[in-house]
Amino acid sequence: MVVLVTGANGQLGQSLQFIEKNYPNIEFVFCNSEKLDITNYDNVNAVFNEFIPDYCINAAAYTAVDKAESEPEKAYSINVLGPQNLAKICKINNTVLLHVSTDFIFDGSKTTPYTELDIPNPTGVYGQTKLDGELAIQDIWEKHFIVRTSWVYSQFANNFMKTMLRLASERDSLSVVDDQIGTPTNAVDLAEVLVTIITEHSKRNTEKFGVYNFSNEGQCSWFDFAKKIFEVNNINIDLHSIPTSSYPTPAKRPAYSVLDKSKIKNVFGVKIDSWETSLSKI
Ligand SMILES: NC(=O)c1ccc[n+]([C@@H]2O[C@H](COP(=O)([O-])OP(=O)(O)OC[C@H]3O[C@@H](n4cnc5c(N)ncnc54)[C@H](OP(=O)(O)O)[C@@H]3O)[C@@H](O)[C@H]2O)c1
Repeated sequence: MVVLVTGANGQLGQSLQFIEKNYPNIEFVFCNSEKLDITNYDNVNAVFNEFIPDYCINAAAYTAVDKAESEPEKAYSINVLGPQNLAKICKINNTVLLHVSTDFIFDGSKTTPYTELDIPNPTGVYGQTKLDGELAIQDIWEKHFIVRTSWVYSQFANNFMKTMLRLASERDSLSVVDDQIGTPTNAVDLAEVLVTIITEHSKRNTEKFGVYNFSNEGQCSWFDFAKKIFEVNNINIDLHSIPTSSYPTPAKRPAYSVLDKSKIKNVFGVKIDSWETSLSKI
């Protein structure tokens, strides 16, 4: 079984490389943006002709939430035209497409976890392009799994955890927002879940295509997340909680974006660690 991974240098791409050794029956083909630019149809077509993948995991994305507000065309190209190209070429090759989306497609007005059936209403360019990417895939190719996740961090690439650790080495005190509630997701857990979907799908050949939520269990604010990051790393720092209004950003973020994971647990038998347990594993 051949699994092609786009965006191999990102957090998810590197996490998939990290767990590759656990799956000797899968031949992974990892392509960074130099080998495979998902916005270039001919490039995608050539790579698919070279490797003929059974599954494609799209780990490529434009993820700079604030920068997207001033670069909407670039965000659209990578988050919408890219998935569109992949869906078209997956359809030609009968390749199952696994795509990753985000909690930022929601406006955060709910106070209970978002299910796959809740109506999206993005508050920024990044969320809108991720939603449009989902819709593009759904329009073109039915053999897809879209996994929505939130607050991804890992030992790889850039993320909130690494920013906190860097800032702690430069400063004595830090202020972090305490009124945005969500769930951190260890990218390695996300990688494992994507491969579980592939192995379950290939074993049972049951077609459970569609949209799924996945994050770690529990919920917290960015302040709680930062506090735990410093705790598990034995770092003493003067940490202050502030409201979002004291930390204005170009992109408006959802105040609440916890995801309900019932569907992925029921369909694929996935067991999910709490965000605290998963953070301690790194
Ligand atoms: N990070 C989060 O907090 C978060 C939260 C919710 C959902 N997600 C979703 O989770 C998925 C994985 O995110 P991540 O955190 O692993 O992202 P990431 O670390 O930012 O990595 C994205 C990768 O995409 C690559 N890329 C950009 N443009 C490309 C193109 N045209 N063709 C091929 N590759 C391209 C980048 O390559 P270069 O390095 O060469 O530019 C980068 O390696 C994404 O779909 C993201 O939207 C992320």
